[in-house]
Amino acid sequence: MALHIVDHPLAVHILTLLRDKDTDPAHFRNLCEQLTYFMIVESTRELKTKDVFVETPVEGCQGIALERSLVVVPILRAGLAMLQPFLKVLPDVSVGYVGLERDETTAQARSYYLKLPELKGRDVLILDPMLATGGSAKKALEQVYGEGPASVMMVSIVAAPEGVDLLTSAFPDLPIFTASLDRALNGQRFIVPGLGDFGDRLFGT
Ligand code: PRP
Ligand code: URA
Repeated sequence: MALHIVDHPLAVHILTLLRDKDTDPAHFRNLCEQLTYFMIVESTRELKTKDVFVETPVEGCQGIALERSLVVVPILRAGLAMLQPFLKVLPDVSVGYVGLERDETTAQARSYYLKLPELKGRDVLILDPMLATGGSAKKALEQVYGEGPASVMMVSIVAAPEGVDLLTSAFPDLPIFTASLDRALNGQRFIVPGLGDFGDRLFGT
């Protein structure tokens, strides 16, 4: 199974504050940004690199650079919470957008926007903090895989077993990164314990 749980104590500390129902949207946004740095470090660990040579002020030395150009694809809206940290750490990434919205009754994801850059031969990270039924992520992944990328990874913050199972059966080689594998989904297909509606908490809606 390609599930990676990012459980550094500081990441868990930040996630605990994110879960707190009394955390207001401004603090919630800051916490998302902080936690995403941990997700970046872990999710990019296996990216292919090439050797490069650099002159320091003292002498030349060997270093590395990413071999392929990277694309990040936040799933709207909630995935936007994870975008800025990626742009800060990796300013050369290209950004694609997938707009998906779950129906409040059926929890089926409806597509309302799609804008992807060239993905052929590139490494793609899909960003969505909540992996619940997995329906939204699966739809986004089908679009992305259809464009012939070199590799794809899913980066979330909280995942439910149901969503992880759906993605691993549909895409057995897909690495999934999350800060927590929670217990289950409730009757409304919300993650429990989860943190509630991520998009609403992020944007104060
Ligand atoms: C949330 C979340 C995911 C999706 C996860 O988005 O951000 O995209 O639900 O649920 P799933 O795994 O069952 O598909 P939502 O549809 O609420 O839209 P929003 O981000 O605009 O709030
Ligand atoms: N979307 C959310 O924002 N939260 C959940 O728990 C499930 C889907």
